[in-house]
Amino acid sequence: MCLMGNMELSDLAFAKIGVGSARQVEDSGLPVISGLRSAAMQTHQEPVQDPVVPDWADLVLEDTWPDRLHPLSRPRNVWKLLQSLFSRRQAVELPQQLAESIPRYILQEFHNLPNGNYSNHLSHGYITGFDIAMLGEVEVSRQWIAERLTKAQTVLDIGTAGGKTAAAVQRQGVPDVWGIDPSPYLLKHAARRNPGLKFVPGIGENLPFGAERFDAITLCFVLHEVPPRYGRQILAECYRCLKPGGLLAIAEPSSLQMQKPRWRSMLTAKGWQHLYFYLLAHFVYEPFVEAWHKVDKAQWLDEGGFELQESDYGMPIGHWLARKR
Ligand SMILES: C[S@@+](CC[C@H](N)C(=O)[O-])C[C@H]1O[C@@H](n2cnc3c(N)ncnc32)[C@H](O)[C@@H]1O
Repeated sequence: MCLMGNMELSDLAFAKIGVGSARQVEDSGLPVISGLRSAAMQTHQEPVQDPVVPDWADLVLEDTWPDRLHPLSRPRNVWKLLQSLFSRRQAVELPQQLAESIPRYILQEFHNLPNGNYSNHLSHGYITGFDIAMLGEVEVSRQWIAERLTKAQTVLDIGTAGGKTAAAVQRQGVPDVWGIDPSPYLLKHAARRNPGLKFVPGIGENLPFGAERFDAITLCFVLHEVPPRYGRQILAECYRCLKPGGLLAIAEPSSLQMQKPRWRSMLTAKGWQHLYFYLLAHFVYEPFVEAWHKVDKAQWLDEGGFELQESDYGMPIGHWLARKR
């Protein structure tokens, strides 16, 4: 069992629905929602107050299989990790209480990462490795997002991972910044790197916040990892939690990455960069990326109650800024 002061791992999942611990929910006579998974699929009473921010520094998360390999102590373990990078994707293995609380589609080895975003050690490496693999382009996108939210007082970053988009927003002077992500392994690192930010576990389909709580919401490299029907639920939750006129800022990989670069372009640095992103996009495991590319973003935002203010569809990343109508 993972303990956090007198808080248990199962309580972590319940922190997101803003009603206290699992035990409190049972005692209250409210229907017991066995964690995030069911919460994602059901409507629940709208939270009236902000969720409790876990004390991440004291939280010990159970090791998962990549943590137990200790690659440096045994060369055979290095082989096992490498094999896992290149072989068929396995189901993600999790401590029981967490496994019940996170939707199945999330529990996959995204980006070929052994055990996905769910290990103490590899999730740490992923936070840095993601930016390196994207050749610094995601940091440019975070800046694109942050610069458009300077007038906001309260911002939520959905799919925050290591908290870098939330941190970019805070650097622009926004005083109240929250990050949410289903992986407590990532959130623990995020909290250590960004002590001034508030990180809570949860999913975009079921935000643990009251209506009209935020001036702006950000989604940086999240929606292409979500099946479209859950993407629509995330958009509906953004609409609910944004104040009237609130802003939604999105950055996602561009579909141009999927197209082969022209041979002529290989005479330029841009052409080589295109080839790199083309190969990367075809190598990394992202099961829902093609479905995301098929979504007509302007129509999707319009149907969700948003007015598109600005879009910038480049290579390798596309950006959208929309306002709640
Ligand atoms: C590529 S990472 C995001 C990177 C991060 N936004 C940044 O700027 O560095 C995708 C993140 O989305 C999270 N995620 C996946 N499905 C989600 C969902 N339904 N709701 C919220 N977050 C989700 C994953 O756990 C992962 O941390």
